[in-house]
Amino acid sequence: QNEKDSQFIVSNWAKDHYQKLLHETEEGESIGLSYLMQRGLNQTTIKTFELGYSLDQWDDLLKAAQKQGYEAKYLEKTGLTIVREDDPNRRYDRFRGRVMFPIHNVSGRVIGFGARTLKANDKTAKYLNSPESEIYHKSDVLYGLYQARQPIRTEDVCYLVEGYLDVLSLHQGGIKNVVASSGTSLTESQIRLIGRYTDNVTVLYDGDAAGIRASLRGIDMLLEGALNVRVVLFPDGDDPDSYIRKVGDQRFKDYLEKNSQDFISFKTRIVSQEAAHDPVKKAEAIRDVLQSIAKVPDPIKRQVFLQQTSTTFGIDEQVLITEYNKLVKKDS
Ligand code: CTP
Ligand code: MN
Ligand code: MN
Ligand code: MN
Ligand code: MN
Repeated sequence: QNEKDSQFIVSNWAKDHYQKLLHETEEGESIGLSYLMQRGLNQTTIKTFELGYSLDQWDDLLKAAQKQGYEAKYLEKTGLTIVREDDPNRRYDRFRGRVMFPIHNVSGRVIGFGARTLKANDKTAKYLNSPESEIYHKSDVLYGLYQARQPIRTEDVCYLVEGYLDVLSLHQGGIKNVVASSGTSLTESQIRLIGRYTDNVTVLYDGDAAGIRASLRGIDMLLEGALNVRVVLFPDGDDPDSYIRKVGDQRFKDYLEKNSQDFISFKTRIVSQEAAHDPVKKAEAIRDVLQSIAKVPDPIKRQVFLQQTSTTFGIDEQVLITEYNKLVKKDS
């Protein structure tokens, strides 16, 4: 048995422990479970994603682990405990009084946790996550992929959302081909991971300025990864979770159908909102779209996108291609 195996084992045990606390203790039920129900999640979803609860105590997990004979060093290595600054021989639980979201690798093994506070005015972060470890590399993981990988294959499209709750609500609403980048900006290895299952991604980020910025960044990376990209924008202040809760499953699906746009239309809309009738800004907007097209590895797709851009902006295609070639040369 090697190091990594021990870390997998202790992580799986911790997941079981948090699950038991959620379902079988007074504190877990009255605080954790009732919170999840209030967020609209049902028992099936809670079980499918193996959600749990950490007690609001300093060393509940630590004590339970010791009782089971788990070595402290593995709790430490997986980040489940933290060494005390005033006394390096003593430790305490990292996750306390939080709803626990186990993070699985594609084989379904637990490699880390996300943990949401239940307090309205928590001074600490809303979400805490496991630190990097030998088994958990944040940038290589997509939350929900274990549960989504077959549906992504079947539907031949992957919905990409920002957060844990977005994954859970959509899955529960029957949209099971959904994964989250979990707060980090999208990485190359996450994109390669999606590419194992489909060539098509639809980005469903939060309908706020941060979400739009992240979408624009994500689009270019997905294009570079040779994926086909569509985007759905939500009303300002909504994210996929709040929106599906607001309008219901069927209207949400209709909304996706009606509002999904290819990346050129999306970028065009975003940048021309800013550009309005200012010709200088409009020229910048066009160059911006050309920069994205330059990321597409397939020359035939590039050609099609250039044609589309020419139509969208009403710019002669030859002029556009000349400008495109200038841009590409400048960058190389
Ligand atoms: N996130 C994080 N740390 C934070 C805030 C956010 O890791 N301090 C990650 C989480 O994965 C979170 C995602 O970023 O799910 C999106 O953040 P946000 O939109 O703020 O949260 P929601 O998922 O919408 O959470 P909720 O609906 O529970 O408020
Ligand atoms: Mn492929
Ligand atoms: Mn957000
Ligand atoms: Mn959100
Ligand atoms: Mn949310």
